[in-house]
Amino acid sequence: MSDTRYPSNRRGHIIGWGKALPERVLTNDELATLVDTSDEWIRQRTGIAERHIAGEGETTFSLSLKAAQDALHITNLDPIHLDLIIVATVTPDYPFPATACLLQDALGAQHAAAFDLQAGCSGFVYGLSVAAGLLAAGLYRYALVVGAETLSRITDWTDRTTCVLFGDGAGAVVLESREEPGGILSSVLGADGSGGELLMIPGGGSAHPTCAEMVQDRQHFIQMKGQEVFRFATRTMPEAARQALEKAELGVDDVALFVPHQANDRILQTAAKRLGVPEDKMFSNLARYGNTSAASIPIALCEAIEQERIKRDDVIVLTGFGAGLTWAAAVVRWSLPLPSPTPRRRTIVWRSLRFRWARLRSRLRRLWRRVDARLFNLRYEQDGRRKRRDEE
Ligand code: COA
Repeated sequence: MSDTRYPSNRRGHIIGWGKALPERVLTNDELATLVDTSDEWIRQRTGIAERHIAGEGETTFSLSLKAAQDALHITNLDPIHLDLIIVATVTPDYPFPATACLLQDALGAQHAAAFDLQAGCSGFVYGLSVAAGLLAAGLYRYALVVGAETLSRITDWTDRTTCVLFGDGAGAVVLESREEPGGILSSVLGADGSGGELLMIPGGGSAHPTCAEMVQDRQHFIQMKGQEVFRFATRTMPEAARQALEKAELGVDDVALFVPHQANDRILQTAAKRLGVPEDKMFSNLARYGNTSAASIPIALCEAIEQERIKRDDVIVLTGFGAGLTWAAAVVRWSLPLPSPTPRRRTIVWRSLRFRWARLRSRLRRLWRRVDARLFNLRYEQDGRRKRRDEE
């Protein structure tokens, strides 16, 4: 396990946040027409009432882009100043290139390093910790961390033990390295690969490459041993939160709000009990979104801000668990005044022009790449002809 306490003179501060959810909502009653389940069973066992499902053309990238644009809008930061983009996801648009690279191009973040990070539902807090470390080390000034998923694309819609749980969405934060109190104070990241098979997609990787037989056996969908994951979650989430607080030299009583991974209301209730905090200190929006994996914590964070559950100087703890198995917690002292001021109309227009310019620039670069390839081929053919003539 890796524990990190960031130095006090320079830390990553959250300066922007955004979320994106597909329009289409799938209710428990609708699900009950697909598999043998009921609204009552799902609500009682999980707390979920509905979830958002990506429509045609909507992908992890398109949701990431919307969440990232919203987060950048709040900061008024030109994406050209971003140094780093991390997208935490288990459902990238492609095995490669990374979804983070698609995002880098679409945002016009010309100077940013970009990569995807896969740590299951702990992915966002993993990404946040990696970015915070690089900012605290003074290597970068601005970072964008996104958690985004289209789990509906890897869900077996004939398996009632999993399909009732998951949903799609994205959340993003912009971090700035600042020499002032607050920001991301500490983090704890952990993994136990011996539990990997409790929550996995067996097919489609190098162990079992995609083939007709594998697809026929439905090995390209999520498989889960629910009860074992449940036990793991109720043990590790509060433990990780406590350890991260210890690193920050804070106690549970100092925390204004826990923003946990949204998997099951019963997990959140047990975690609250184990931490000895009232249930209303555990933020929950599970009823409306289900489990959106790496997206769940940043979406919950955005909603906690929208609902004015966070104010300046509050200590908040982000904590998650997931496939791997992995777990993660980060302690943040909120350093920005809230609510953030409403931007002027001129600013809004200017920001949307920036994103249009990024789209145009991306098209021009693709066009130039084609022209450049054509010119290169012409030169290559000419050189070949000249060489042959010289030889004759
Ligand atoms: N609708 C109706 N019945 C269902 C059902 C569904 N969607 N899914 C399972 N059942 C049935 C089971 O078949 C079982 O029937 P049986 O007693 O006749 O065998 C019964 O309900 C109880 O199943 P069980 O698996 O014991 O339920 P549970 O109380 O453990 O709840 C989960 C199941 C998945 C909700 C719960 O284990 C859980 O949330 N685990 C954690 C999962 C998680 O967080 N995953 C993501 C990690 S990031």
